Amino acid sequence: MEDFLWWRDGVIYQVYPRSFVDSNGDGFGDLRGIIAKLDYLAFLRIDGLWLSPIYPSPDKDFGYDVADHTAVDPRYGTMEDFDTLVAEAHKRGIRVILDMVLNHTSDQHPWFVESRSSREDPKRDWYLWQEGPNNWASVFGGSGWVYDEATGQYYFHMFLKEQPDLNWQNPEVRQAQLEVFRFWLERGVDGFRLDVFNAYFKHPGFEDNPSRFGLRRFDRQIHVNDMDRPEMMPLLGELRSLLDSYLERYSVGEPFMPTIEKTAHYAGEGKLHTAFHFFYDDMSLIPKWGANHFRRQMLELGKASGGVYLPALAMNNHDSTRTASRYCRGEDDANARIAMALLLTVRGTPFIYYGEEIGMRNISLSRKEIMDPVGRYYWPVIKGRDGCRAPMQWNDSPQAGFSTGKPWLKLHPDYTKRNVAAQENDASSMLNFTRRLIALRKEYRALRDGGIIFLEPPQKDVLAYLRLSPKGTILVGLNFSNKSRKLDLPPGDWQPLLTTHGRDVNISSEMELAPNEVSLLKSS
Ligand code: NOJ
Repeated sequence: MEDFLWWRDGVIYQVYPRSFVDSNGDGFGDLRGIIAKLDYLAFLRIDGLWLSPIYPSPDKDFGYDVADHTAVDPRYGTMEDFDTLVAEAHKRGIRVILDMVLNHTSDQHPWFVESRSSREDPKRDWYLWQEGPNNWASVFGGSGWVYDEATGQYYFHMFLKEQPDLNWQNPEVRQAQLEVFRFWLERGVDGFRLDVFNAYFKHPGFEDNPSRFGLRRFDRQIHVNDMDRPEMMPLLGELRSLLDSYLERYSVGEPFMPTIEKTAHYAGEGKLHTAFHFFYDDMSLIPKWGANHFRRQMLELGKASGGVYLPALAMNNHDSTRTASRYCRGEDDANARIAMALLLTVRGTPFIYYGEEIGMRNISLSRKEIMDPVGRYYWPVIKGRDGCRAPMQWNDSPQAGFSTGKPWLKLHPDYTKRNVAAQENDASSMLNFTRRLIALRKEYRALRDGGIIFLEPPQKDVLAYLRLSPKGTILVGLNFSNKSRKLDLPPGDWQPLLTTHGRDVNISSEMELAPNEVSLLKSS
């Protein structure tokens, strides 16, 4: 493929390691398990693999409370396993992206243990210690400050109290963190996903946040002093120079409290390669769905990015409701297919969350089964994130082929029918649909880095756009309605490339999209 750059033109797949494959029967996914499934990812034609945290962790926030940034948690395997994973992935043309959780550490991290030991400790200032709390809150509930009896001061935590925030204003912290990147770069890691990177820096004078209307304490503040601080920008420059001193390395930021403007602010030359745009807002009670909803986001993203960077796009991840649970009714995958087609054909780098390609649904949990600290604190208003973290459904054998032991989290009961093995053998499955779309991205440059023009279909339920390249144009038509809809085609010799509704004739100036149809046409 001409000029193919993996992080710009490729498709990235997120693995939540504890839920992907368990190779040793302890019920917990591991690195050897992931290695065993690299051929599956190659079959899907994935270009990059993002691993949610694999570091030692007391697991208060399921790995996002890191106790050592440069080691592998023994439950996942060894550093040797990790090196094998990188080597085997590279053999298949798959790049490896690590999750860097650097806003905070676990309270068990040696840095915090030292910092907490006395006011005079050299690492005291590596965290945010104060005589008294200000109004900053924890997004996981309550005040963000905890009183530490032993030394008589408070420390700040944006997330759990077991996740104290680092003091990035301290140059030693900055240096130590850049060393963490260097450590993994030297091991051949290709890229990094930066967890809540825009919260690294806090107001140096600890000023209160202004108030506003909101439900949770955290939402009743305008977060100008505990995130999105201007001090962030030079750090991004420094990080980018470090990454650029290696070949084809990549960074993708997870903006905390994301907006399109934030994504644009932090990505581009001398900054991060890109930042996420999430197509959904999990806090809205009724999920928004429809042609206009997505068209508006893409137009705003296009304007904000101004061609300077390509947004990283996601329909779901380990913090959100699964796409199919958000948009589909029962076992009908029609809307999940529309969402997948959109993700893989608009302008941006698509991220697929494990299981999304087979239309996995959230599991439901009773109150006593909830493990996620967010769900425990806010139940029943917010039920937490366990629902989207269930074991991958590989086949219909006991434990879905995920493990030979008892899985750490329960399986979705639909696994006996909805699984990779069943869908591999079904030409019309969601899996084969996804695979075909990825293959088309590889085949047609227009779908990877072509310009995008949105059409104005006569009926509002249709989202239609052209992807343009000097070698040809692709038209994507998505019918969000469960009724047939008309689509006027621009002049061209349109031939079907892929459709959910079997079409084999050439199409002239007008076409009728079947209910919920996805159609890709090409014109040379
Ligand atoms: C964002 C991560 O995606 C989420 O899972 C985690 O709880 C918080 N950051 C804190 O690290």
